[in-house]
Amino acid sequence: MGGATLAAVTDSTDAIAGLDLTEQAALGSGASFWTTKPIGPVPSIMLTDGPHGVRRQSGSATDHLGISGSEPATCFPPAVGLSQTWDPELVERVGQALGGESRALGVQVLLGPGVNIKRDPRCGRNFEYYSEDPLLSGTLGAAWVRGVQSRGVGASLKHFAANNAEHDRMRASSDVDARTLREIYLRTFEIVVRQARPWTVMCSYNRINGVYASENAWLLTAVLRDEWGFDGVVVSDWGAVADRVAAVGAGLDLEMPTTGGTSDTEVLEAVRAGRLDADTVTRAAVRIVRLIERVTETDSTAASFDTEAHHRLAREAAQRAIVLLKNDGDVLPLAPSPLAVIGGFAQEPRYQGGGSSHVNPTRLDIPLDEIRKLAGDHPVSYAPGTDVAAAVTAAESAEAAIVFLGLTAEDESEGYDREHIDLPTEQLELLRAVIQVQPRTVVVLSHGGVVRLHDVAGLAPAMVDGALLGQAGGGALADVLFGVVNPSGRLAETVPLRLQDCPAYLNFPSESGRTLYGERMFVGYRWYDARDLPVAFPFGHGVSYTRFEYSDLVVSAADAALSVRLTVANTGTRSGREVVQVYAGMPGSKVGRPVRWLAGFASVTVEPGQRCTVEIPIDRTDLAYWSTDAERWVVEGGEYVVSVGASSRDIRLTATVTLTGDEPLLPFTGESTLGELLADPVAAETILSVLGSASPFGAADSALGSNILRMLESVPIGRMVGFSAGKVSREQLDDLLANINAQRS
Ligand code: BGC
Repeated sequence: MGGATLAAVTDSTDAIAGLDLTEQAALGSGASFWTTKPIGPVPSIMLTDGPHGVRRQSGSATDHLGISGSEPATCFPPAVGLSQTWDPELVERVGQALGGESRALGVQVLLGPGVNIKRDPRCGRNFEYYSEDPLLSGTLGAAWVRGVQSRGVGASLKHFAANNAEHDRMRASSDVDARTLREIYLRTFEIVVRQARPWTVMCSYNRINGVYASENAWLLTAVLRDEWGFDGVVVSDWGAVADRVAAVGAGLDLEMPTTGGTSDTEVLEAVRAGRLDADTVTRAAVRIVRLIERVTETDSTAASFDTEAHHRLAREAAQRAIVLLKNDGDVLPLAPSPLAVIGGFAQEPRYQGGGSSHVNPTRLDIPLDEIRKLAGDHPVSYAPGTDVAAAVTAAESAEAAIVFLGLTAEDESEGYDREHIDLPTEQLELLRAVIQVQPRTVVVLSHGGVVRLHDVAGLAPAMVDGALLGQAGGGALADVLFGVVNPSGRLAETVPLRLQDCPAYLNFPSESGRTLYGERMFVGYRWYDARDLPVAFPFGHGVSYTRFEYSDLVVSAADAALSVRLTVANTGTRSGREVVQVYAGMPGSKVGRPVRWLAGFASVTVEPGQRCTVEIPIDRTDLAYWSTDAERWVVEGGEYVVSVGASSRDIRLTATVTLTGDEPLLPFTGESTLGELLADPVAAETILSVLGSASPFGAADSALGSNILRMLESVPIGRMVGFSAGKVSREQLDDLLANINAQRS
């Protein structure tokens, strides 16, 4: 159990040497809901949720299903809030604090981060994920893992993979083409595995192209281990294993939670019957022992954590997570003055999401109390907003109104999806009534998934997006409202005008057990930009109490990277932090590509009247696309457009840069089309010189009322043997292709 060390064992293989196959199989499934089995010299460890706080059930509170209460722990902003910081350094510090709390609470593996892509705003679990963009999600996820693991606690990167809806999550198949999987849904995981080396990865409940993630050898072994070099334990999501034998064969190491030993017996029977290799069972057991060595290296029994310091960190993270969506007429920041605070979330804040990540906070800041603290001696009235007349009276007798709107815990949660993205109608009616009497009205939003904001934005001059901010969110909101903190959060997902505009609108949720990812890699802003659709607030958006100007963009190409340099000047009157975003695009690409995609970002704090230079390195892999022909990442040679902006739709500077590509020269075969051959200079010259007058194609005239050569472009060259009616033999064609391939290599 928690705190034990693998004392007598110095090497995983030593430990395994003493265990027979029955014991090795037993290591591969849970002892309880949250623990592994102690076997011989190998102690048990505890795995617990995650990701924005430690949900450690204790002693008598531990129930079979893991749904009873848990010990107090700091509730940091859930991923929906944390992602809006665009700040990996801060996320890493949150990770360190979470690692420290895990150790103090006797937890060896913390079940996070959740890095699934927000494919559709209706997914009930979007609050637990970072973004619609893989680079942002991956960079923040990697920072979280580095932080947690720096304290000797294992992270569990989840949910691997393509788990983007809650509806039918334990059966449905995510049907995704290879390029989309690689560029969007696997990309985040790849970034985290390569950059931060998590000690465990949690496979998801769903199927991918028909095969359960837990039984998917391509996913768990070929991609995760062989390509990305993952050297940790693959643990199942709780109850994700339908067939342990198939799962172990595919690369799963640990089935959670306990099965009472029944699946251990199935594994042994499969080995006896020759359906599963004994070495595969041993390999999984060695990995589990290695994990236990990693997490028990340091004795955690004496560890404790500083609840006050962690609350302060939770407040810092929440301050940075808040996005100022708009601020017409500089309604914000508020001066201490008579105020009306309206809406139930001001007194009972919505600060985390429902389900397995639910934390029992060490304390909770109430926004109304925190606003009162900063309003000085001025009166701050409060109306819950259920009685509109009372809210109107409060608003008209104040100098400004702060209206809290948002979604309740029941509206969105793990386990089910939303059917729409609207705010409750009563909330909009309340806002309309308040604004009629109080033009200086600020809306504060609390929600885990995106909500439709078109109406709110049309009414309110100022909007503050709090998403979900964790236990210290109340203080952080007050800090932003009164200007103690200059907001610098940025949206990590697009706010669409309507649900009908969303990329997966027609393919969500699953139907007859299958979800077609028909929008392919055009997810989030990639979709809205490609379709040129207006949005309510774009990806990367967020304003400040000061203003920034960008200038002097220089983009230079080096071997493995691009270097982007620019100047950011603070032309306003307050110190502020600016998140500078670099987008890449390739208008002349041979493959379909997004108009622009995030290729790098950095933030900089600038004092009023000052300027500073920002340097953002761009990795070549962030310019590549996944070639399904070559089955690898390819950087296309040619001209790239590099744009720098304050959001995906607020592009301030643009430059072009020409890169040398690394496209593979795939050999031509009989399946290559005439068009493909003619597009290659060497092949074109050879073909035209050989065919010359003996051309079987006839003239490129208009006998068919068309350009015959163009019509023939899509014909595989091998078919010409037949079409030429004996003029060109199979051997001649093979020689021709061999000759062309030799000249090109
Ligand atoms: C969730 C996981 C969680 C696990 C253990 C599952 O239902 O999908 O994210 O870590 O339960 O609570």
